[in-house]
Amino acid sequence: MQRLSDGLFQKFSALVYQEAGINLHDGKKSLLEARLAKRLRATGIDSPRAYLDFILSEEGREEYVRFFDAVSTNLTFFFREPKHFEFLENVALPEIVERNRKSGTARIRMWSAGCSTGEEPYSMAMTVLTSLDQPFRWDFRVLATDISTRVLQTAMLGVYEQSKLANVPVALRQRFFEPLRDGGSTKTYRVRDELKKIIAFRRLNLMDSFPFKGKFDVIFCRNVMIYFDKKTQESLIQKMAAYLHHGGYFFVGHSESLTGLHHPLKYVKPAVYKKL
Ligand SMILES: C[S@@+](CC[C@H](N)C(=O)[O-])C[C@H]1O[C@@H](n2cnc3c(N)ncnc32)[C@H](O)[C@@H]1O
Repeated sequence: MQRLSDGLFQKFSALVYQEAGINLHDGKKSLLEARLAKRLRATGIDSPRAYLDFILSEEGREEYVRFFDAVSTNLTFFFREPKHFEFLENVALPEIVERNRKSGTARIRMWSAGCSTGEEPYSMAMTVLTSLDQPFRWDFRVLATDISTRVLQTAMLGVYEQSKLANVPVALRQRFFEPLRDGGSTKTYRVRDELKKIIAFRRLNLMDSFPFKGKFDVIFCRNVMIYFDKKTQESLIQKMAAYLHHGGYFFVGHSESLTGLHHPLKYVKPAVYKKL
C-alpha cells in the first residue's frame, strides 16, 4: 500500500472520531495503515485516497461498515477482570433481587456495551444464571451491542476454541457449552441454547442515540471508552447513566477511570459505579 500522507491520516482519523468517537492520535498511524492495507487488498482499491472516496460514496456504504470493523480493537475474553463478576454475584445481584422483590417485578436487564465477540455478555449471563435461586422464575435478559458487525457474527455464532474457554470454570463449561464434533483438529465448543437465548446481540454505535424503551439494572462498558477522548467519554457516560435504574451499577475497565469527568454516578470501588 502507498504510505498514508499526514493529510490523509488526519482525514481518516477525523472520520473515525466523528463517526465512532475513537481517537486515532498520531501514534496510531501505523495501526491505521496496517488495517487500511487489509481493506485495500480485500476490495482491490489501489490507494488510501481512492478508498476514502469510495467509503464516503453511496456504493461504498457496506465497505464503510467494514472499515469501522477493521479499525476497532476487539480484544476480549471470558471472565475478564474477574472481580467484576464476583461483585455482580455477591453485591449487585442480591440488591437487584431485593429491589425487585419489593416492587414486585421479575425483570432483570443488563447491557454489555461494546461486547466484541461475546465473551463478556456470555460471562454476565452465566454468572447470573448460576447465582439466582430459581433462575427460570426471572425475566432475565442481556443486551449485547457493538459497532462491529464482524465481531457480532462471532458472538451470535457462539463457537469458541477450547483455549478461549480457559477462564471458564469446568462446571460452567459443562453446563453452558457443548463440544462440536465437526470442529476440525482444534477442539471447539458451542454455547448451548439455554445461555444463548438470554442474550440479544445488536449493532449499535455508542455515538448514536439509544433506541431503548426501558432501563438497565447493570451496564458493562469496559475497555471501550479508552479509545475515546474525555469530552466523548463524558457525554457517553451521561447518556448511559440516563438508562440505568436508580440503584443500578455501571462497570468500566480497570484501566479506565471516570475521575475528572462530570457524571451523576457514585464511585463504589475501582471500575464500579452506582446510580443513587
Ligand atoms: C476491546 S473491546 C472490549 C470488549 C469487552 N467489553 C471487554 O472488556 O472485554 C472494545 C469493543 O468496543 C467496540 N467499539 C468501539 N467503538 C465503538 C462505538 N463507537 N460503538 C460501539 N462499540 C464500539 C469495538 O468494536 C470493540 O469490539
